[in-house]
Amino acid sequence: MRDILPPESGRWRRFTAVFADVVEAAGYQQLIPPLLEDLGVFTRIGDATDVVTKEMYDFVDKGKRRVALRPEQTASVCRSFAQHRPTVPWKVFYSGPNFRYEKPQRGRYRQFDQVGIEVLGVDDPMLDVEVIALGWEFYRALGLRQVTLQLNSLGEPDDRARYVEALRTHFEAAGEQLSEQSRNTLAKNPLRVLDSKREPDQTFIESAPQIADFYSDEAAAHFDAVQVGLRALDIPFVVEPKLVRGLDYYRRTIFEFLGGTLDSAQNALGGGGRYDGLVEALGGPATPGIGFALGVDRTLIACDDEGCFDAEAPQLVAFVVDVVGGLEAAVLTTDLRAAGLSADRGYDNRSMKAQMKLANRSGASFAVIVGEQEHADGTVVIKPMHGGDQVTIPRSELIAHLSETTNS
Ligand code: HAM
Repeated sequence: MRDILPPESGRWRRFTAVFADVVEAAGYQQLIPPLLEDLGVFTRIGDATDVVTKEMYDFVDKGKRRVALRPEQTASVCRSFAQHRPTVPWKVFYSGPNFRYEKPQRGRYRQFDQVGIEVLGVDDPMLDVEVIALGWEFYRALGLRQVTLQLNSLGEPDDRARYVEALRTHFEAAGEQLSEQSRNTLAKNPLRVLDSKREPDQTFIESAPQIADFYSDEAAAHFDAVQVGLRALDIPFVVEPKLVRGLDYYRRTIFEFLGGTLDSAQNALGGGGRYDGLVEALGGPATPGIGFALGVDRTLIACDDEGCFDAEAPQLVAFVVDVVGGLEAAVLTTDLRAAGLSADRGYDNRSMKAQMKLANRSGASFAVIVGEQEHADGTVVIKPMHGGDQVTIPRSELIAHLSETTNS
């Protein structure tokens, strides 16, 4: 787990703000689920996933309840829906930290942030298109260019079940030739064997049955409609039949956004899909659902690599240098801030030279200086810090003067 220090922290805040702008413009409203939930909420993500079996931060609280820090937020959104029964379609977005006990490395952390959207109550493939398009638009708003969209469908639950059995038979026939890890995975979830990057597994993955051969007519029609919609919006995508995603709740459409600059183990910038049975599993009515989550930490690494969406320190308008005791600076900074002009100051009654050094370091556009003479005359000196002549003006004109200069 790590600290996000300034000025990087400011970039995180802007990231969330840009995301909120994109999705609020499409009718999504924010849901703020708790960080901690009953463990049972998250075990619905699937008992064959590492997220549930190996990576959960779960413990017994003082009331002897088994609870866990959320590893993601889709399950919480569905739990919230089942609990509050809002009218559908329920279009929500969220942001915030998640916790997974993973092996930390660049782009993979035990506490990481996500922004995401979820829609409950709509079966229409045009919603799949909208959801994917919003993710795409957000990457564009950040200025990222090297993002690839991978798309697949896992079919209806019956299709998926038949496909899983076909995969099981196929991989079992490989026997000992399959890597040991994949043999373990096979026992729990044959789909995830398709994710293996290990060399001995590759020939068997290549020759594995294809999901498309198992689609029912409905599943095939839904998937076709999604592709037609994405083409109509000029969103480029690649159908990747081996894309399975790491969580068990998915049905039908699934997708992943991959970054072009990251290592393949950490190049998923975001992902999502349909999870039509999850609300029901959490005690609610049968409700279709779809959404995505985008990893903030990882997407910002991609931004660094591509040189977009920079971290900028906020620009101060004024730095008040007060060499007559510090009270003048207290009043002036308060007045400036109240007028919407950002202002900082020096403390501890330091020398003019020391305070001017601070003013310089602060990056402020102007130093506002109050010396003995100005104090006596009711004036201030305004010194532009990035070139230009200094002026002495009546104190009462300070705000008007700076407002005018900063607006021009
Ligand atoms: P996920 O694929 O597990 O999906 O996570 C989504 C994104 O979160 C990943 O693509 C990645 O960018 C980021 N991420 C995941 N784990 C880590 C980590 N340890 N460190 C840094 N970043 C990480 C979900 O969480 C689903 N809830 C997405 C979803 C929403 N599906 C439907 N609705």
